[in-house]
Amino acid sequence: MKIAVTVKEVREQVNEWKRQGLSVGLVPTMGYLHEGHKSLITRAVSENDRVVASVFVNPMQFGPSEDLESYPRDLDRDAALCEEAGADLIFHPEPSEMYHSGFSSYVDMDTLTGGLCGKSRPIHFRGVCTVVAKLFNIVMPDRAYFGQKDAQQLAVIRHMADDLSYGIEIKGCPIIREEDGLAKSSRNTYLDKTERQAALVLNRALSEGRKLIDAGERDAARIKETVSSIISAEPLARIDYVEVVNWDLLEPVENIDSPVLVAVAVFIGKTRLIDNFIALED
Ligand code: PAF
Repeated sequence: MKIAVTVKEVREQVNEWKRQGLSVGLVPTMGYLHEGHKSLITRAVSENDRVVASVFVNPMQFGPSEDLESYPRDLDRDAALCEEAGADLIFHPEPSEMYHSGFSSYVDMDTLTGGLCGKSRPIHFRGVCTVVAKLFNIVMPDRAYFGQKDAQQLAVIRHMADDLSYGIEIKGCPIIREEDGLAKSSRNTYLDKTERQAALVLNRALSEGRKLIDAGERDAARIKETVSSIISAEPLARIDYVEVVNWDLLEPVENIDSPVLVAVAVFIGKTRLIDNFIALED
């Protein structure tokens, strides 16, 4: 497995693969990889001849008071995980390789990005769309893989790929959880022991919401109330949002009669965690 740091190196390698008629899968990541990322790479390996994993902590998607500086980084560990999962190439650029001085072109989306995480992270999705568009242009993959844990991101990228006619299949992959139910996230490393225990409230609350829907409850307000009240009972938790939205345009719904995303963002101490489930999906 190679590690490329320049766009040119990646292009040369991918062009060579394309000349040989090989299909290419892309797994975009910000590194500090865990079992969730590994499952994306493993799936990409099973569906493509060659797999590129990008490891790039994208400054453009962090707000001024967010955790860009402290975001965990460990390339050696990431490389070992990528190799074990069967990736063929890691793309690990410096910020200056992705954003040269004078960079001024962005991908902005009018729909899907204003609610949920977009509300408290106003510039986040512009950063995500711009970097993912660049990665698509650099790697030109046949398929790209994203986790459902970042459900809004998955919906936004699907929409962008369609709007901009990328012709890339966007594959959503299931949330991978710790044994006790906490969704795997690189940010879980910020939690101390007490916070780690308190963080279980996200999955506990969502599981109750899911049970209600499975039992036939169709009033979105009731689901939000149930999920919110369980989270609020945890002293270390502060709700950013609890939402029930349709699973295409991410608009709030009153009645649950087609696929919906039930999503939460919760601060546990200073750490903001997200989790979700999709209901009524075929
Ligand atoms: O999900 C992430 O890790 C990032 O948002 C992504 C898609 C790699 C873009 O920087």
